[in-house]
Amino acid sequence: MQTFTSIKAMQDWCKEQKRAGQTIGLVPTMGYLHQGHMALVGEARRNCDKVVVSIFVNPIQFGVGEDYEDYPRDLEKDSRMLEQGGADALFAPAVKEMYPPGYSTFVEVEGEISAKLCARSRPGHFRGVTTVVSKLFQICLPDQAFFGQKDAQQVMIIEKMVRELNFPLRIVRVPIVREEDGLALSSRNVYLSPEQRQQALVLNQALQLARETIQAGERDPAQVQALLVRTISASPGAEVVYAEIYDAADLTDVEQITKPVLIALAVKFGTTRLIDNLIVEV
Ligand code: PAJ
Repeated sequence: MQTFTSIKAMQDWCKEQKRAGQTIGLVPTMGYLHQGHMALVGEARRNCDKVVVSIFVNPIQFGVGEDYEDYPRDLEKDSRMLEQGGADALFAPAVKEMYPPGYSTFVEVEGEISAKLCARSRPGHFRGVTTVVSKLFQICLPDQAFFGQKDAQQVMIIEKMVRELNFPLRIVRVPIVREEDGLALSSRNVYLSPEQRQQALVLNQALQLARETIQAGERDPAQVQALLVRTISASPGAEVVYAEIYDAADLTDVEQITKPVLIALAVKFGTTRLIDNLIVEV
């Protein structure tokens, strides 16, 4: 695996691959890799000739007081995992390479999709994500780019951006990878104390309970939401940031659950904020 820190060198390598007729799969990450990230790498490996993984803790998608400084980083370990996972190139630029002094260009998806869930609790977050992902697309020239369903709103916003800005590539969604006990893998799980790690199981438990209730015939999203809030609040140490139900296709509001819905949760344990979600078909 080759490692690049310069945009020019990475872009030249990708252009060379394309000239040689190779397809490129891109997996954007912020590093501190786990099996969730590696599932994206595996999917890219199966779909594309060359796999490029980016590791960049993107400062502009973190709000004031969020965990940018503390975000876990281990480039050496990540590098070994990617080598084993069959990645061909690692792009790990410095902040000043991506955002040199005076940088002032941003990409933003507006509208309802960007006004709820994480957009409400993390203002400016998705503008940072769509900006960095656009830059990564221009640098790595992927035919396909791989994103996890773990960040359901993120992948929906990126799909909309790709459609509306005519990026010539396909977005591939990869299902959520979970621990055996149901906790969704996340780089932020390392922040949890052993006790909080146990309490955090309530996210998946609440999602499963909501699914069962819908499948048993509940059609009122307000009732399902009340159940989610009740279930999560019953767990000591858990503070609900949001627990909401939207149309799984476009995140619009639903009056009655008559088509697939996205149930999305954000819950804080101390200062650690975890997200999880589930699409329920009816
Ligand atoms: P990061 O949190 O590192 O996640 C990188 C990718 O891995 C995302 O597409 C995310 O949805 C996916 N992922 C994380 N945990 C997962 C799990 N348990 N199962 C399946 N996929 C999982 O998301 C970001 O970084 C950034 O916002 C980024 C897109 C890189 C832009 O900076």
